Amino acid sequence: MKIAIDGPAGAGKSTLAKELSRKLGYIYIDTGAMYRSLTWKALQKNINLEDAQALFNLAQNTKIHFRNDSDNQRVICDDMDISEEIRSPQVSGAVSRVASYQEVRKIMVNQQQAMGRSVSVVMDGRDIGECVLPDAEYKFFLTANREERARRRTEELKLQGYSVNPELIEKDMLQRDKDDMKRDMGALKILDDSIVIDTSNLTIDQVLEKILSIIQED
Ligand code: CDP
Repeated sequence: MKIAIDGPAGAGKSTLAKELSRKLGYIYIDTGAMYRSLTWKALQKNINLEDAQALFNLAQNTKIHFRNDSDNQRVICDDMDISEEIRSPQVSGAVSRVASYQEVRKIMVNQQQAMGRSVSVVMDGRDIGECVLPDAEYKFFLTANREERARRRTEELKLQGYSVNPELIEKDMLQRDKDDMKRDMGALKILDDSIVIDTSNLTIDQVLEKILSIIQED
């Protein structure tokens, strides 16, 4: 069983995907964390983000995997736990650029498909329904109005200890969505077979209930 969850930043995808996978006993794969890891490494190495060849080489030589803690999923990049580092505003500001290169995406998509082979998965990202799991039994597209998405992202960053400017957060988030929607390969979009859920006025539990009822209906 494959469940794809796509949508813009702050729509609640990862919280929901984590809960859903726990409820169903499936593997959870956070594909955004993979693009973020690569971006973190590129920034560490001072790689020019306009240098497609360098980013392609980097993607080829980077190992990313997930480790499940009792409560959380940890992101391991080349044997280093960078779960916190990849959520920094610097990484958020650069990740869409890194994710815009087709050759980089091909490597990531291949790895994601390999991770999802022969297991039941919940995968979240931008291009899961279209590119990574086109045969997924369920394709959800989570969205929310921009004020709510910006509010959630601001809260998240505050909890992580960043001092944040909400207006700037909203601006950066909208810019990232725009970039994610306009790239040639793996662009963020609603598919013909997407089930769209607006989470603006719903709690995580309500979204979870909705999704479970759709799955259990069949
Ligand atoms: O947590 P948030 O929704 O803000 O973002 P994320 O899921 O961690 O993804 C970060 C970025 O990675 C996105 O803005 C995309 O540029 C890129 N991404 C992608 O291109 N394809 C995916 N399947 C997942 C993420």
